[in-house]
Formats: sequence, structure tokens, C-alpha cells
Amino acid sequence: MSNLKSKVAIVTGAASGIGLACARRYAAEGAIVVGIDRNLSADWSSVESSAPHSRFHQLDVTDGAAQQAAIDATAREFGRIDILLTAAGVGDGGPVGMLDEATWDRVIDINLKGTFLSVKAVLETMTTQRSGSIITIASVEGLNGTEGGSAYNASKGGVVLLSKNIAMDYGRMGIRCNAICPGFIDTPLLHEVMDAMPEFKADVVRQTKVGRFGRPEEIAGAAYFLASDDASYVTGHALVVDGGYTAGHSHGIVQLMGLV
Ligand SMILES: NC(=O)c1ccc[n+]([C@@H]2O[C@H](COP(=O)([O-])OP(=O)(O)OC[C@H]3O[C@@H](n4cnc5c(N)ncnc54)[C@H](O)[C@@H]3O)[C@@H](O)[C@H]2O)c1
Repeated sequence: MSNLKSKVAIVTGAASGIGLACARRYAAEGAIVVGIDRNLSADWSSVESSAPHSRFHQLDVTDGAAQQAAIDATAREFGRIDILLTAAGVGDGGPVGMLDEATWDRVIDINLKGTFLSVKAVLETMTTQRSGSIITIASVEGLNGTEGGSAYNASKGGVVLLSKNIAMDYGRMGIRCNAICPGFIDTPLLHEVMDAMPEFKADVVRQTKVGRFGRPEEIAGAAYFLASDDASYVTGHALVVDGGYTAGHSHGIVQLMGLV
């Protein structure tokens, strides 16, 4: 029997990539899914086909009042909120000396403050019902530095620690909070960042031990586990899903030894 039957899930960044894949997976597992994104999605019908009661709110996650109103409407309509997955995010940065203040503010505002505002908006409902699973989408770039990462890495490092603190503050109220740290996943965001840098792209694939970019559905699998009751004792964790990218550096030894 489906583990998410009758659960209510909010997914931000639900119009594209990882958020859309998570929304689809939650819907396929029986949840009612409420998507939030600043853009409309041509693919939202794929969520509605498994979960006809699902909803979509077009809003910016940095607009705390609009987001709170959409989440309050969800709680009123469905009576509960069981899962929050925060995938709304942007990729931008650059070496600090070359980075303008407006770009820094935009990345931190969307990736970090947006996550804070999404979590804040579900907490009253989750603490009242004394249950809930919050899953934030951070990044392996929130665990280690990346050349030119700066604002992006700072925002994602912030998401990792924010998630651990939420787990600490709300665990005794039945709320779990975990971050997922994806490696390099084949989404529009990845292409936006990498297509102009083919050497970087090739090196990332070389450093990824399974030898390819990840698929959004492979993040959705982890997001399903963390949302489910199978993860009832998992909280405060930053789960790396990166095809081995952060397992260690590759220096060509396996090729030298004839393993590949
Ligand atoms: N693709 C990767 O390699 C990768 C790796 C690690 C982490 N991530 C993270 O995963 C998350 C999803 O990224 P993706 O790769 O699926 O990219 P994507 O561009 O396909 O999806 C991001 C979605 O977030 C939405 N969004 C952006 N800013 C918003 C805002 N202010 N308010 C509401 N919605 C907003 C976009 O409209 C888009 O639909 C991001 O937080 C990203 O940083 C991605």
C-alpha cells in the first residue's frame, strides 16, 4: 500500500526539474500535492493525472505574505500539511571580487531566505498537528567549496545548517527536517550554468563516479524516502545524492589499472 496515501505535500520550485520530479513522485505515491513556483508549468498536468485534488500557486518564495496565504489556504482546504519540500532555487555566483551586491542578494534571498519563509509558513500547522516532514533541497555545493561558487555555496551551506537547526528545534513536536544535497542533476538550471563551459561539464562527469549526471527522478526517490514513515527516525541529516561526486578525487587510477 502506498506510504503517502492521503498525505498533503507542499512542493516549492514545482514547475521544473527536481521540484517537478518530487511533486510527480509524491502524487504517484498517493499524496495531494500543492505546487508553488514563480513560473507556471506546462507539465503540471502530469502531477494532476495521479493526484486530481492537487493545486498550483504561482508566487515568488521571497514574498512571505503571498506564500503564507497559499499555505494557509492549503491547510484550510485539506485540514493538514504533512510534507514540505523546498526546491525553489537559482544558480549564480562568481569570485567575490567580481560579484555584484545585487546578485549576492538575489541568490541568498531566493535560496536561503526563501527556504526560511517556506518552512516558517508550514510550522503553525505542523506544530498543531504535531507531525510533519520538511525536506530542503541544498546541494553538495553547500558542503564543500566550488571555484566561483560564493553566493550559491553560501546559500546552500546556509540551507544545510538551517535544516539541522529546524530538526533540533521542532523534533520534540513530531517534526523531522532533513536536507538533500544533490550532485549535478540534468535540469534546466544545470544547462543554464554549464552549457557555456563544456570543459567544466566534462570534468564534473569525470569526477562523478557513476560517470553521468543525475536524473531529477533520482532526487525524487530520496525525497520520497525522507517524506515517508520509513524515515521516522531520520532527522537533522544532510543526505548526499551525487553519484559519488563527493566520495573522493579521481586521478585516473581505475583507468590505469584497467578497471574501466
Ligand atoms: N540541477 C542541479 O544540478 C542541482 C544540484 C544541487 C542542487 N540543486 C537545487 O535544486 C533546486 C531545484 O533546481 P533545479 O535544478 O530543478 O532547477 P530548475 O531551474 O529546473 O527548477 C527551479 C525552479 O525554481 C523556481 N524558482 C526559482 N526562483 C523562484 C522563486 N523566487 N520563487 C518561486 N519559484 C522559484 C523556478 O521557476 C524553477 O521552476 C534548486 O534549489 C537548486 O539549487 C540543483
